[in-house]
Amino acid sequence: MAVKVRARAYSSSANLGPGFDTLGIALDAFFDEVTVWENSNGKVVVEEIAGPYSGLVRRKGNTAERAVREFLLMTGQQGIGVSMRIWKGVPPGRGLGSSGASAAAAVRAVAGLLEMEDIPASLLVMAAGLGESESSGNPHYDNVAASILGGLAVVSVFREEVFVERLDVEAFFAVGVPFVSVPENKTGAMRRVLPESISFQEHVANSQRLAMLITGLVNRDYRLAGRAMDDLIVTPRRSVFIPCYEELKKAAFDSGGLGFTISGAGPSVIALAESGQEAAEIAKGFSEVYSECGIRHLSTTAKPAPGAFIV
Ligand code: HSE
Repeated sequence: MAVKVRARAYSSSANLGPGFDTLGIALDAFFDEVTVWENSNGKVVVEEIAGPYSGLVRRKGNTAERAVREFLLMTGQQGIGVSMRIWKGVPPGRGLGSSGASAAAAVRAVAGLLEMEDIPASLLVMAAGLGESESSGNPHYDNVAASILGGLAVVSVFREEVFVERLDVEAFFAVGVPFVSVPENKTGAMRRVLPESISFQEHVANSQRLAMLITGLVNRDYRLAGRAMDDLIVTPRRSVFIPCYEELKKAAFDSGGLGFTISGAGPSVIALAESGQEAAEIAKGFSEVYSECGIRHLSTTAKPAPGAFIV
C-alpha cells in the first residue's frame, strides 16, 4: 500500500441545457485536491479541510468521506481506516459540481492508495455519486462522472447499473458565479421544482436538442451545439430562481455567445463561445450584469478539464 496519495479533480457543469442527469463537462476553472493515508482506527475520517472555500464545507458527513466509505464497501475493504485532507478550491453550492469534485478526488486518491489503478471508471463514479448524494439528497452521476473521466461525460443508469463514457471535446466557456444565498439543500430544492411528467412533444423536441448538442460538440460545430443548449424542460422551471438570468443571457448573446444555460442546478450560469477570446468577452459581460444587479460574483472562462488524477 502507498503511504500517502494526493489526487486532483476539477469542477464541472452538469446538464448543459437538455442533458439533465445525462451530461456533465469537466471545467478547468476550479479544482479540489484530496490527500489520503491509512489510519489505525479503522474509520474513514476527514482530518482537515484547507483552501479558499474550506470554511463553507463540513468535515463530518462530507461527500468525500461517504464516497470513500462506499468505495471501500464496493471493493470489499471496509475494515481499512482512511484519513484525508481536503483542499477545497471549487466554490460550494454554486452549481459547479463542488461536492462531486471532492468525492471524485477522494475515490481516485483511495484507489491510488490501495494500488487499484485498473479499477473501472464506472465503479469510481458509482462510489463518488453515492458520496455526492450526501449533499444533494439523491444520487445523480453527471457531475462526478465529469470530474472523474474529464472532458464531456455521458451517463446512463440502467436498472441501477451506471454506465459512463467520456467524449473528448474542445470548447470554450464563460462561467458566471454569483455569491447569493441558496436554500440549504439547494440541488434537492431545485429538483423539486421540476415536473413529474412532460408531454410526448416536449420529450421529442428535447431529445433532438440533446442529440444535436452532443453531435455539435464532438464535430466542433459550436453554432449547432450552442443552439441545442436551449433546453425546453428543466431550464424554464429553474431560471426564475437564477439571479439576473435574462440579463445574463442577453449579455452572453450580445458578446457573441453561441449558447447559454444554467450550470447544474444553479445559481451559476454557463455560456458556450467560439474562442477563448470570446469567452473572456462574455465573462466580462457577466461581471457587468452582476455589478449592475449588486451581486458579489466571480466571472471566468473555462475549458474542458482532464479527469481526476494522482498529483
Ligand atoms: N443534474 C443535476 C441537476 C446536477 O440538475 O439537478 C446538479 O448539479
